Amino acid sequence: MQQLTEQVKLFGNGYFNYYVVGREEAALIECGTSAGAEIFARQWEALEDKPDIKYIVVLHSHFDHVCGIPILKELFPAALVVGSSTAQKILSKEKAMASAFKSDRFVGESYLKAGFISELPRVAECGPIAVDAVVGEGDHLLLGDNLKLDILEAPGHSACSLAIYLESEQIMFASDAAGYKTGPGEISPVFFQDYDSYIATLNRFQSLPIRILAMAHGDVFKGDEVKQYLEETVKAAEEGFAFIKAALEAGEDDDEVGKKVFERYFKGGMAYYPPDIMYSTMKLLVLNVKSKL
Ligand SMILES: [Fe+2]
Repeated sequence: MQQLTEQVKLFGNGYFNYYVVGREEAALIECGTSAGAEIFARQWEALEDKPDIKYIVVLHSHFDHVCGIPILKELFPAALVVGSSTAQKILSKEKAMASAFKSDRFVGESYLKAGFISELPRVAECGPIAVDAVVGEGDHLLLGDNLKLDILEAPGHSACSLAIYLESEQIMFASDAAGYKTGPGEISPVFFQDYDSYIATLNRFQSLPIRILAMAHGDVFKGDEVKQYLEETVKAAEEGFAFIKAALEAGEDDDEVGKKVFERYFKGGMAYYPPDIMYSTMKLLVLNVKSKL
């Protein structure tokens, strides 16, 4: 556990981050996978002064951000699961969740092989997940200590993407809406829903005073790093778009381009994910660029 600011604690293994906001009443932001939630649970157990978790916040519905919820609900049975209405719909679908938990199990096995966990997570399979409270743009979550978490819609990565802004400490919890840093100087552009809205979300982040950019995966950016990272992630998206556009215009078919995109961006923490699922996801980038040509 790392105390990021007076109000915010960071948990996780670095590939997936969990944030606890609040010292008395608190919100847990990000839910991760079952394997990630097991890691969080161990860290939580070791924490001396535990705040009272009122909310478990789902920032978007991709499998690596929701499959940890059953374990988190066991830890915090009274907490409300909060997410967007689109996330609520997706998480209520039997078929979508069966597939999500299949990918989740793959991550559990990868983490086990990598030595991040010592046994497979207890919850390896599960059906639909209930989102108890729906939030959207302009809403906020209130916690003790006069803490106010502002909800922003942050489309582009997915239609259900939310971000949370803690104005009192100028922290943006961006989930995957601001790209995925896979290594030094490398950012995967993840405009899986739509390129233009992805850029618009990034521009919005650039227009706000942000002292800490709290991502779901990898590094947390602080101070001057925030501006620099946001510029780099916009550039990475523009370069990714141009790379795909050039390949399509050269007459390559969607699958060939998809393969190139996969080879270029399937790195870092993503390499613990099922390659077939990530290939289909990367192909969304190709289809999204194609729709703009
Ligand atoms: Fe995502």
